[in-house]
Amino acid sequence: MSRAAFHTVHSPSPEASAHLAQHLAPAFAPGDVILLDGDIGAGKTHFARNLIQALQGPEFAEDVPSPTFTLVQTYDTPMGEVWHADLYRLGDVSDVFELGMDEAFETALCLIEWPDRLGPAAPDTALTLRLATRGETGRSIAFVGDHCWQTRLAPYLERTTLK
Ligand SMILES: Nc1ncnc2c1ncn2[C@@H]1O[C@H](COP(=O)(O)OP(=O)(O)O)[C@@H](O)[C@H]1O
Ligand SMILES: [Mg+2]
Repeated sequence: MSRAAFHTVHSPSPEASAHLAQHLAPAFAPGDVILLDGDIGAGKTHFARNLIQALQGPEFAEDVPSPTFTLVQTYDTPMGEVWHADLYRLGDVSDVFELGMDEAFETALCLIEWPDRLGPAAPDTALTLRLATRGETGRSIAFVGDHCWQTRLAPYLERTTLK
């Protein structure tokens, strides 16, 4: 998990982070696993919420509550199924299989907060977003993943300007 980032974005505001998530949404598909790494308040849920709502489209945009207590929330979107998980309270890694998450890694777009809880169950092919707080409304968002991710996201990241 100590791989180098292929891209880092500085977000000056919650709105800029929302814009980034909306802009990246079309890059993702069922079978993609995105690990959202960062401390409490770093913006993991904020990013996932804006990504999910962008995938739902304006007519479908529904509430996206934090899955803090439910562990997992699932959504049907025109792109396919989305799983939003917060594994902070995961008791044991075997619960991941109990929840059916290993299957969802193959069939849904999975957005996972507190992915360290997965241990070796985290797919090698996952994209990691490392979010870190930089002052009150600043956040750095580092993209970590294999060459496939770098190639796939390049057109989206090149055109990203955060205001
Ligand atoms: N640049 C920023 N990007 C994202 N969130 C930000 C930013 N600046 C401030 N925030 C705030 O930080 C909080 C992040 O909360 P949340 O997404 O629930 O964090 P986490 O899920 O990582 O614990 C939100 O209240 C959001 O408005
Ligand atoms: Mg959260």
